[in-house]
Amino acid sequence: MREKEVKHLISIEQLSIQEINNLIKVANDIITNPTKYSDKCNGKILATLFFEPSTRTRLSFESAMLRLGGKVLGFSEAASSSVSKGESLADTIQVVSLYSDIIAMRHPKEGAPLVACNNSNIPIINAGDGGHNHPTQTLTDLLTISREKKRLNNLVIGLCGDLKFGRTVHSLITAMSRYKNIKFILISPKELELPEYIKKEVLDKNNIEYIETHDILEYMSQLDILYMTRVQKERFFNEADYIRLKDYYILDKDKLKTAKEDLCIMHPLPRVNEISTSVDNDPRAKYFLQAKYGVFIRMALILKLLEVK
Ligand code: CP
Repeated sequence: MREKEVKHLISIEQLSIQEINNLIKVANDIITNPTKYSDKCNGKILATLFFEPSTRTRLSFESAMLRLGGKVLGFSEAASSSVSKGESLADTIQVVSLYSDIIAMRHPKEGAPLVACNNSNIPIINAGDGGHNHPTQTLTDLLTISREKKRLNNLVIGLCGDLKFGRTVHSLITAMSRYKNIKFILISPKELELPEYIKKEVLDKNNIEYIETHDILEYMSQLDILYMTRVQKERFFNEADYIRLKDYYILDKDKLKTAKEDLCIMHPLPRVNEISTSVDNDPRAKYFLQAKYGVFIRMALILKLLEVK
Protein backbone atom coordinates (compact mmCIF):
# COMPACT_ATOMS: atom_id res chain seq x y z
CA MET A 1 0.00 0.00 0.00
CA ARG A 2 1.33 3.48 -0.92
CA GLU A 3 2.12 5.69 2.07
CA LYS A 4 0.10 8.92 2.34
CA GLU A 5 1.88 11.90 0.75
CA VAL A 6 3.12 14.42 3.34
CA LYS A 7 2.36 18.07 2.54
CA HIS A 8 5.13 20.66 3.01
CA LEU A 9 5.43 24.39 2.29
CA ILE A 10 8.79 25.30 0.79
CA SER A 11 7.86 28.07 -1.65
CA ILE A 12 4.74 30.10 -2.27
CA GLU A 13 4.36 28.66 -5.83
CA GLN A 14 3.28 25.37 -4.26
CA LEU A 15 -0.03 26.99 -3.27
CA SER A 16 -2.68 27.70 -5.90
CA ILE A 17 -4.56 31.00 -5.77
CA GLN A 18 -7.57 29.05 -4.51
CA GLU A 19 -5.51 27.54 -1.67
CA ILE A 20 -4.13 30.99 -0.75
CA ASN A 21 -7.63 32.46 -0.78
CA ASN A 22 -8.84 29.59 1.45
CA LEU A 23 -6.02 30.23 3.94
CA ILE A 24 -6.97 33.92 4.01
CA LYS A 25 -10.62 32.95 4.55
CA VAL A 26 -9.71 30.68 7.49
CA ALA A 27 -7.40 33.36 8.98
CA ASN A 28 -10.23 35.90 8.78
CA ASP A 29 -12.55 33.43 10.51
CA ILE A 30 -9.93 32.86 13.24
CA ILE A 31 -9.73 36.64 13.79
CA THR A 32 -13.54 36.81 14.14
CA ASN A 33 -14.08 33.58 16.11
CA PRO A 34 -10.83 32.70 17.94
CA THR A 35 -12.47 30.40 20.52
CA LYS A 36 -13.76 28.14 17.74
CA TYR A 37 -10.13 27.19 17.03
CA SER A 38 -8.71 27.06 20.57
CA ASP A 39 -8.44 23.28 20.80
CA LYS A 40 -8.11 22.27 17.14
CA CYS A 41 -4.51 21.10 17.64
CA ASN A 42 -4.96 19.48 21.03
CA GLY A 43 -2.25 16.82 21.41
CA LYS A 44 -0.18 18.11 18.47
CA ILE A 45 3.41 19.40 18.73
CA LEU A 46 5.09 22.03 16.57
CA ALA A 47 8.92 22.02 16.43
CA THR A 48 10.58 25.34 15.58
CA LEU A 49 14.13 24.74 14.32
CA PHE A 50 15.79 28.10 13.79
CA PHE A 51 19.38 27.99 12.53
CA GLU A 52 19.19 31.80 12.02
CA PRO A 53 17.90 34.57 14.31
CA SER A 54 14.20 35.48 14.32
CA THR A 55 11.67 37.26 16.48
CA ARG A 56 8.42 37.40 14.52
CA THR A 57 8.48 34.20 12.53
CA ARG A 58 9.49 31.86 15.34
CA LEU A 59 7.35 33.45 18.02
CA SER A 60 4.31 33.88 15.76
CA PHE A 61 4.53 30.18 14.83
CA GLU A 62 4.75 29.29 18.51
CA SER A 63 1.88 31.66 19.37
CA ALA A 64 -0.15 30.14 16.50
CA MET A 65 0.29 26.57 17.78
CA LEU A 66 -0.41 27.56 21.40
CA ARG A 67 -3.58 29.40 20.32
CA LEU A 68 -4.69 26.22 18.54
CA GLY A 69 -4.29 24.25 21.78
CA GLY A 70 -1.07 22.50 20.72
CA LYS A 71 2.41 22.49 22.24
CA VAL A 72 5.80 23.68 20.99
CA LEU A 73 9.45 22.67 21.30
CA GLY A 74 12.61 23.63 19.44
CA PHE A 75 15.74 25.73 19.37
CA SER A 76 16.42 29.33 18.36
CA GLU A 77 20.05 29.02 17.28
CA ALA A 78 22.20 26.30 15.73
CA ALA A 79 24.73 26.66 18.61
CA SER A 80 22.25 25.16 21.08
CA SER A 81 21.58 22.08 18.93
CA SER A 82 23.79 19.09 18.07
CA VAL A 83 24.45 20.67 14.66
CA SER A 84 27.22 22.49 16.58
CA LYS A 85 28.79 19.03 17.17
CA GLY A 86 28.70 18.26 13.46
CA GLU A 87 25.31 16.54 13.09
CA SER A 88 23.84 16.80 9.58
CA LEU A 89 20.58 18.59 8.83
CA ALA A 90 19.17 15.30 7.49
CA ASP A 91 19.82 13.50 10.80
CA THR A 92 18.48 16.42 12.85
CA ILE A 93 15.23 16.42 10.89
CA GLN A 94 14.83 12.63 11.06
CA VAL A 95 15.09 12.77 14.85
CA VAL A 96 12.91 15.86 15.39
CA SER A 97 10.21 14.32 13.21
CA LEU A 98 10.02 11.52 15.82
CA TYR A 99 9.30 14.09 18.54
CA SER A 100 6.76 16.36 16.82
CA ASP A 101 3.91 16.52 14.28
CA ILE A 102 5.01 19.52 12.19
CA ILE A 103 8.28 21.47 11.78
CA ALA A 104 8.86 25.16 10.99
CA MET A 105 12.52 25.72 10.11
CA ARG A 106 14.74 28.66 9.17
CA HIS A 107 18.19 28.06 7.70
CA PRO A 108 20.88 30.30 6.16
CA LYS A 109 21.41 27.90 3.22
CA GLU A 110 19.07 28.19 0.25
CA GLY A 111 17.52 24.82 -0.43
CA ALA A 112 17.99 23.47 3.13
CA PRO A 113 14.20 23.03 3.55
CA LEU A 114 14.22 20.71 0.52
CA VAL A 115 16.82 18.50 2.23
CA ALA A 116 14.56 18.55 5.30
CA CYS A 117 11.51 17.43 3.28
CA ASN A 118 13.46 14.49 1.89
CA ASN A 119 14.19 13.31 5.45
CA SER A 120 10.84 13.91 7.09
CA ASN A 121 7.56 12.06 7.31
CA ILE A 122 5.85 15.08 8.89
CA PRO A 123 5.11 18.48 7.27
CA ILE A 124 8.03 20.91 6.91
CA ILE A 125 7.40 24.66 6.66
CA ASN A 126 10.12 26.90 5.26
CA ALA A 127 10.40 29.83 7.67
CA GLY A 128 13.09 31.47 5.50
CA ASP A 129 16.06 29.98 3.60
CA GLY A 130 18.98 32.31 2.93
CA GLY A 131 18.14 35.05 0.43
CA HIS A 132 15.74 32.70 -1.37
CA ASN A 133 12.18 32.35 -0.04
CA HIS A 134 9.97 33.22 2.91
CA PRO A 135 6.53 31.85 2.02
CA THR A 136 4.83 32.36 5.39
CA GLN A 137 5.86 36.03 5.39
CA THR A 138 4.19 36.24 1.99
CA LEU A 139 1.01 34.66 3.33
CA THR A 140 1.14 37.27 6.12
CA ASP A 141 1.59 40.02 3.52
CA LEU A 142 -1.30 38.73 1.40
CA LEU A 143 -3.62 38.62 4.43
CA THR A 144 -2.56 42.19 5.29
CA ILE A 145 -3.15 43.46 1.74
CA SER A 146 -6.51 41.70 1.42
CA ARG A 147 -7.73 43.09 4.78
CA GLU A 148 -6.33 46.60 4.41
CA LYS A 149 -6.94 47.16 0.66
CA LYS A 150 -9.97 44.84 0.35
CA ARG A 151 -8.49 43.35 -2.83
CA LEU A 152 -5.51 41.44 -4.19
CA ASN A 153 -6.01 42.57 -7.82
CA ASN A 154 -5.56 46.02 -9.41
CA LEU A 155 -2.65 47.27 -7.31
CA VAL A 156 0.46 49.38 -7.86
CA ILE A 157 3.06 48.00 -5.46
CA GLY A 158 6.29 49.81 -4.64
CA LEU A 159 9.04 47.55 -3.28
CA CYS A 160 11.86 49.56 -1.75
CA GLY A 161 15.31 48.73 -0.38
CA ASP A 162 17.27 45.50 -0.66
CA LEU A 163 15.54 43.76 -3.56
CA LYS A 164 18.60 41.59 -4.22
CA PHE A 165 18.87 39.71 -0.93
CA GLY A 166 15.38 40.34 0.48
CA ARG A 167 13.70 36.92 0.42
CA THR A 168 10.34 38.42 1.48
CA VAL A 169 10.37 40.52 -1.69
CA HIS A 170 11.16 37.51 -3.89
CA SER A 171 8.28 35.49 -2.47
CA LEU A 172 5.84 38.43 -2.55
CA ILE A 173 6.57 39.21 -6.22
CA THR A 174 6.07 35.53 -7.07
CA ALA A 175 2.71 35.45 -5.30
CA MET A 176 1.35 38.80 -6.53
CA SER A 177 2.36 38.06 -10.13
CA ARG A 178 -0.51 35.57 -10.23
CA TYR A 179 -3.14 38.22 -9.46
CA LYS A 180 -4.74 40.50 -12.07
CA ASN A 181 -3.56 43.96 -13.09
CA ILE A 182 -0.54 44.19 -10.79
CA LYS A 183 2.22 46.72 -11.47
CA PHE A 184 5.50 46.80 -9.54
CA ILE A 185 7.71 49.83 -8.92
CA LEU A 186 11.11 48.40 -7.95
CA ILE A 187 13.00 51.00 -5.91
CA SER A 188 16.60 50.13 -5.04
CA PRO A 189 20.20 51.22 -5.41
CA LYS A 190 21.96 49.69 -8.44
CA GLU A 191 23.83 47.16 -6.28
CA LEU A 192 20.63 45.86 -4.67
CA GLU A 193 18.40 45.48 -7.74
CA LEU A 194 16.03 42.54 -8.07
CA PRO A 195 17.93 39.46 -9.39
CA GLU A 196 17.68 38.89 -13.15
CA TYR A 197 16.21 35.40 -12.71
CA ILE A 198 13.15 36.84 -10.92
CA LYS A 199 12.69 39.50 -13.61
CA LYS A 200 12.89 36.85 -16.36
CA GLU A 201 11.22 33.83 -14.78
CA VAL A 202 8.51 35.58 -12.81
CA LEU A 203 7.82 39.11 -14.11
CA ASP A 204 8.51 38.69 -17.85
CA LYS A 205 7.06 35.19 -18.00
CA ASN A 206 3.76 36.42 -16.53
CA ASN A 207 3.76 39.68 -18.54
CA ILE A 208 3.83 41.76 -15.36
CA GLU A 209 4.48 45.46 -15.81
CA TYR A 210 7.39 46.83 -13.77
CA ILE A 211 9.57 49.92 -13.55
CA GLU A 212 12.99 50.12 -11.91
CA THR A 213 14.07 53.34 -10.24
CA HIS A 214 16.55 54.54 -7.62
CA ASP A 215 14.27 57.40 -6.55
CA ILE A 216 11.74 56.66 -3.79
CA LEU A 217 9.80 59.87 -4.59
CA GLU A 218 9.44 59.43 -8.37
CA TYR A 219 6.33 57.20 -8.32
CA MET A 220 5.15 57.80 -4.73
CA SER A 221 1.85 59.39 -5.81
CA GLN A 222 0.88 56.27 -7.84
CA LEU A 223 1.43 53.66 -5.13
CA ASP A 224 -1.33 51.62 -3.44
CA ILE A 225 1.25 49.75 -1.38
CA LEU A 226 4.76 50.75 -0.32
CA TYR A 227 6.68 47.70 0.93
CA MET A 228 9.87 48.86 2.67
CA THR A 229 12.70 46.42 3.38
CA ARG A 230 15.86 46.33 5.48
CA VAL A 231 19.28 46.08 3.82
CA GLN A 232 20.21 42.48 4.65
CA LYS A 233 23.49 42.91 6.54
CA GLU A 234 23.91 39.15 7.06
CA ARG A 235 24.07 38.48 3.27
CA PHE A 236 26.85 41.00 2.48
CA PHE A 237 30.39 39.80 1.80
CA ASN A 238 31.89 43.22 2.47
CA GLU A 239 31.02 45.35 5.51
CA ALA A 240 32.04 48.60 3.78
CA ASP A 241 29.36 47.99 1.11
CA TYR A 242 26.75 47.39 3.80
CA ILE A 243 27.67 50.61 5.63
CA ARG A 244 27.50 52.58 2.37
CA LEU A 245 24.05 51.22 1.44
CA LYS A 246 22.28 50.66 4.77
CA ASP A 247 20.70 54.12 5.05
CA TYR A 248 20.10 54.64 1.32
CA TYR A 249 16.34 54.99 1.93
CA ILE A 250 14.77 56.42 5.07
CA LEU A 251 11.02 56.88 4.75
CA ASP A 252 9.82 59.87 6.77
CA LYS A 253 6.72 62.08 6.89
CA ASP A 254 8.18 64.48 4.36
CA LYS A 255 8.60 61.76 1.72
CA LEU A 256 4.93 60.79 2.12
CA LYS A 257 3.63 64.26 1.15
CA THR A 258 2.56 63.18 -2.35
CA ALA A 259 1.36 59.69 -1.33
CA LYS A 260 -2.26 58.55 -1.60
CA GLU A 261 -4.46 58.92 1.49
CA ASP A 262 -5.13 55.19 1.44
CA LEU A 263 -1.53 54.09 0.80
CA CYS A 264 -0.71 50.93 2.78
CA ILE A 265 2.85 51.11 4.19
CA MET A 266 4.22 47.64 4.91
CA HIS A 267 7.51 46.18 6.16
CA PRO A 268 8.22 42.55 7.06
CA LEU A 269 10.33 43.83 10.01
CA PRO A 270 12.79 43.94 11.69
CA ARG A 271 13.26 47.61 10.89
CA VAL A 272 16.65 49.26 11.27
CA ASN A 273 16.57 52.87 9.93
CA GLU A 274 14.54 52.54 6.73
CA ILE A 275 11.30 53.87 8.24
CA SER A 276 11.53 56.79 10.65
CA THR A 277 9.61 56.13 13.89
CA SER A 278 7.77 59.41 13.15
CA VAL A 279 5.80 57.46 10.49
CA ASP A 280 4.52 54.91 13.03
CA ASN A 281 1.54 57.09 14.03
CA ASP A 282 0.49 57.68 10.43
CA PRO A 283 -2.77 55.74 9.84
CA ARG A 284 -1.20 54.39 6.62
CA ALA A 285 1.56 52.59 8.57
CA LYS A 286 0.45 48.94 8.73
CA TYR A 287 3.68 47.11 9.62
CA PHE A 288 2.86 46.28 13.24
CA LEU A 289 -0.63 45.16 12.23
CA GLN A 290 1.08 43.05 9.54
CA ALA A 291 3.20 41.34 12.25
CA LYS A 292 0.00 40.61 14.21
CA TYR A 293 -1.73 39.07 11.19
CA GLY A 294 1.22 36.66 10.89
CA VAL A 295 -0.12 34.65 13.82
CA PHE A 296 -3.56 34.09 12.26
CA ILE A 297 -2.35 33.05 8.81
CA ARG A 298 0.17 30.67 10.41
CA MET A 299 -2.68 29.17 12.45
CA ALA A 300 -4.57 28.62 9.18
CA LEU A 301 -1.48 27.06 7.58
CA ILE A 302 -0.84 24.67 10.49
CA LEU A 303 -4.49 23.51 10.29
CA LYS A 304 -4.15 22.95 6.54
CA LEU A 305 -0.86 21.00 6.68
CA LEU A 306 -2.03 18.88 9.63
CA GLU A 307 -5.34 18.34 7.79
CA VAL A 308 -7.35 19.45 10.82
CA LYS A 309 -10.97 20.10 9.89
N1 CP B 1 9.72 39.13 9.12
C1 CP B 1 10.57 38.25 9.69
O1 CP B 1 10.92 37.21 9.11
O2 CP B 1 11.02 38.62 10.94
P1 CP B 1 11.97 37.75 11.86
O3 CP B 1 13.31 37.67 11.16
O4 CP B 1 12.03 38.47 13.17
O5 CP B 1 11.38 36.37 11.97
